[in-house]
Amino acid sequence: MTVKVSVIGLGYLGATHAVAMVELGHDVIGIEPDQIKLESLRNGILPFHEPGLGSALTRAIASGRLKFSSSHNQESAAAEIHFICVGTPQKPGSAAADTSYVMAAAKDLAKWVSKTAVVAGKSTVPVGTAKLLRDSMSEIAGFNIHLAWNPEFLREGTALEDSLRPDRLVIGAWEEYSVERLKAVYKPILDLGTPFLALDVPTAELVKVAANAFLATKISFINAMAEVAEVSGGDAVALAKAIGYDERIGNKFLRTGIGFGGGCLPKDIRGFVARAEELGVGSAVEFLRHIDAINLRRRDKVVELAKVELGNLHGKRITMLGISFKPDSDDLRDSPALEISQRLTAAGATVTVHDPVSLDALSSRSPELNREGDLVEAMREADLTILGTEWKLYREADPHLLGSLVATKTVIDGRNVLDVPAWQKAGWKVIALGRSIVNG
Ligand code: UDX
Repeated sequence: MTVKVSVIGLGYLGATHAVAMVELGHDVIGIEPDQIKLESLRNGILPFHEPGLGSALTRAIASGRLKFSSSHNQESAAAEIHFICVGTPQKPGSAAADTSYVMAAAKDLAKWVSKTAVVAGKSTVPVGTAKLLRDSMSEIAGFNIHLAWNPEFLREGTALEDSLRPDRLVIGAWEEYSVERLKAVYKPILDLGTPFLALDVPTAELVKVAANAFLATKISFINAMAEVAEVSGGDAVALAKAIGYDERIGNKFLRTGIGFGGGCLPKDIRGFVARAEELGVGSAVEFLRHIDAINLRRRDKVVELAKVELGNLHGKRITMLGISFKPDSDDLRDSPALEISQRLTAAGATVTVHDPVSLDALSSRSPELNREGDLVEAMREADLTILGTEWKLYREADPHLLGSLVATKTVIDGRNVLDVPAWQKAGWKVIALGRSIVNG
C-alpha cells in the first residue's frame, strides 16, 4: 500500500530516509529549507558521500515519487505520515543537545498537519522531548497531534542498507493508532521478519542514546585496555580478539585505535549526561564522562607519539591518511583524524592530508591543512605518516611499493589495520596504538 509521507530535514538521516521510503513504495515529499542542499538533491546529487545512496536517489527522482520543497505546502500537508529528521547537534558551549531545530520544525509542521496524520520523530533527542513537542504542536494545531517516536539506527557508510534492513524497528507512541499507521508504512520491512518493538515514548527516545552510549563504552573500554597494554608490554589488538571470543562480550566494536568520532556517538553521550543531570540522575551515567575522556586521550596519544618520533614538530612534514571520522564517509564532524591534524599543525608541523573523498569538505573546514589527492605524492616527502581513517585503499596498500617511493618509512597506525609483519618486512617502522608488542 502506497502511503503519502513527508520527510522534514534532508541531512544524512532525512535524505536517506526519504530515499528509503520511495524504495518501500511510498510517495514522498522532502522538505529542506537550505536551498543549496535542496537544489543539489533535486538535481540528483547527494551533498555528502554515502555509498549506494546516490544511485537510489536518481532512481527515486526518476520514479516521480520523490518531490522536494523548501517549506510546507498543500502537497506536504496532505501527507499521512510526517517524519521529523532534523539535526540535534551539541549546543555550542554546552554538553547538552540542541533541540531548537526539532522544536522549530514541529511548530512549523503544526500549522499544516491534518487531524488524521501521524508525526513520527526520528531525530535523536533527549528523553522527554517528544512530550514537549506533542504539547506545543497540539496547542498550535488546536487538536491532539498523533505523535510517535521512531528512532533511526543507521550507520554512515551503510545508511540505505541499514534503513531498509534494520536490526529492529522501534516505535514509541501514546496511541495504538499511530503504531498501526507506522506499521503500514514499514510493512515491507516487517515482512522480512525484522524484530518490532512498540514501546512507551520515553523508552523509544532512550533506545537510541542508550545504544550509542553502549557502543561508545565498548570502544573506550578497549582503548582503556590499550593504555594499560602500552605500559605493560601487552597488545590490545590481541587482547580484543581474545576477549571477543566470549559470546557474551562479542568481537564487534572492540577495534582499538584513535577512537570514535562523527555526528552521533560523541554528542549523544554528552547530551545523555546533560539530560540525566537535569533529571537528577547524573551520577547514573557519570561514567560516560570517562568514556568521553578515554576517547579524547587517544588523540593526545598520537600527538605525543609524533613528538617522540620527530622531536620538536616545527617544520616537520606529517601526512595524514584519511580525514573523515570513519571510512566510506566524508563526514568530518568530530573526526579524530581531523583534530589530530589540527593539533599537529598548531604544534608547528606541516600536515598534508590524503583522503579518497573528503578533501573538498576539508577545504572549507580546515584550510590550513594541505590537501593531496595522490597517495604517493602525499607520502613522498613526509617525515611521518599517520593512518587516521581505515579506508580500504590504505588497508590494502602495498608496503613494498610505497616504501620504494617515499623518503621516510615511518607510519603510526591509528586504526590498527596494517599487516604489521608485512610492513616491517618492507622496511617500515610501524608505531601502533595499544601495542607495545609492536613498538618494542
Ligand atoms: C553510529 C551508530 O553506530 C549508529 O547506530 C547510529 O545510528 C549513529 O551513530 P556512525 O556514527 O555512522 O553510527 O558510526 P559507527 O560505525 O558507529 O562508528 C563511530 C565511530 O567509532 C567511528 O569514528 C569509528 O571509527 C569508531 N569505532 C567504531 C572504533 O573506533 N572502534 C570500533 O570498534 C568501532
